[in-house]
Amino acid sequence: ESGLITIDPGFKNTGSTKSAITFLDGEEGILRYRGYRIEDLAEKSTFLEVSYLLIYGELPTQSEFEKFSRDVTTHTLVHEDIKKILDGFPSNAHPMGVLSSMICSLTAFYPDSLDPNRSAEEVNLSIVRLLAKMPTFAAWAYKNEMGHPANYPDNSLDYCSNFLKMMFALPAENYEVDPVVAKALDQLLILHADHEQNCSTSTVRIVGSSQASLFASISAGINALWGPLHGGANQSVIEMLEAIKADGGDSKKYLAKAKDKNDPFRLMGFGHRVYKNFDPRAKIIKKAADDVLEKLGLENDPILAIAKELEEAALNDSYFVERKLYPNVDFYSGIIYRALGIPTDMFTVMFALGRLPGWIAQWKEMRENNEPIGRPRQVYTGANERDYVSMNKR
Ligand code: SDX
Repeated sequence: ESGLITIDPGFKNTGSTKSAITFLDGEEGILRYRGYRIEDLAEKSTFLEVSYLLIYGELPTQSEFEKFSRDVTTHTLVHEDIKKILDGFPSNAHPMGVLSSMICSLTAFYPDSLDPNRSAEEVNLSIVRLLAKMPTFAAWAYKNEMGHPANYPDNSLDYCSNFLKMMFALPAENYEVDPVVAKALDQLLILHADHEQNCSTSTVRIVGSSQASLFASISAGINALWGPLHGGANQSVIEMLEAIKADGGDSKKYLAKAKDKNDPFRLMGFGHRVYKNFDPRAKIIKKAADDVLEKLGLENDPILAIAKELEEAALNDSYFVERKLYPNVDFYSGIIYRALGIPTDMFTVMFALGRLPGWIAQWKEMRENNEPIGRPRQVYTGANERDYVSMNKR
């Protein structure tokens, strides 16, 4: 076939689509959802309202939001046959694997979701089902590994309070949601809600481009997010900070390891493909970490102190400055999740919970724009033509 094929590993210089959803400016550290500044949304909005904004393009009126919120609430319950699938997982199953499996199982329970030509109303039903059931599945994944009974949703509670209650309520004792925790969680989910064409969103788009169902596309996105270079970084950050603490708290030693080309160790939670000055989300989360830990009486958490020391040292180290490596969204988020009582192997599940509306919005935009199936070419570097050799002659 004629024409030069240019290879662009990691698509560092390739635009995959046109999108009206999220705007990033890596140099200026700008992030906007449908034109609204992330700083404003994090301060003034709620995760469910931001979900509506990302998916439908506008901030909802009072009546639009009430209907949306009611629709989501009335779909939080999951078919008992799906709950039976949960019983099949061993308690050491990683919560991300449980989550992506449970989401994919929705296709079996709602076979109409496989029809690429179904109406907008039917697509909206799948969207509402996903937003409603994701917290239930996420909490169940945690209960599975804790060996605790799964809790049913409580429709009298808001989105985050319902999730926290499903996560932490135990039959043996009363559980009251702490509004400080619910508010901190709501803000974290807003900050994770979308981020243009990152690895997991590109995965959702390319799987959806074959006209696979929304549930199958989201399940694929969850698996892409799982990697430590992407959504798994928030878990790696805490493991790194715990290791530094256990090693006497000498962050300078770990900075040296991160700079040593022969050492695979990376400063997790640092660096970003797009942001080359600062990640605006990291700024907001760092302040939230101070506020939440102080409100919870954990302001002297040594992990927070090590994180700040590490950031300070890296910002004054030429290796990191030359490579424009700054804290990203994952650097401080794990410190808050940890303070909220969420275990490290649930951190990426929390990222997926936040990123769900963004994935949905991007999948919906790709389908509404009738984008072609994703099928890139390659430059072949394998063997030239050669004849088959029978086994006895090899
Ligand atoms: C997320 O894309 C998104 O928007 C993602 C995300 C979202 O919201 O969806 O923002 C969420 O995934 C945030 C990133 C979380 N990942 C981590 O924190 C893992 C640690 N960071 C890196 O692995 C890395 O910075 C990436 C993956 C984030 C970006 O990788 P790039 O753009 O491919 O950069 P690179 O790997 O080519 O690194 C450039 C240079 C290299 O050094 P040289 O070869 O030029 O000498 O910087 C070095 C790298 O070795 N480098 C690091 C480093 N990150 C890059 N060195 C030490 N520690 C690091 N963290």
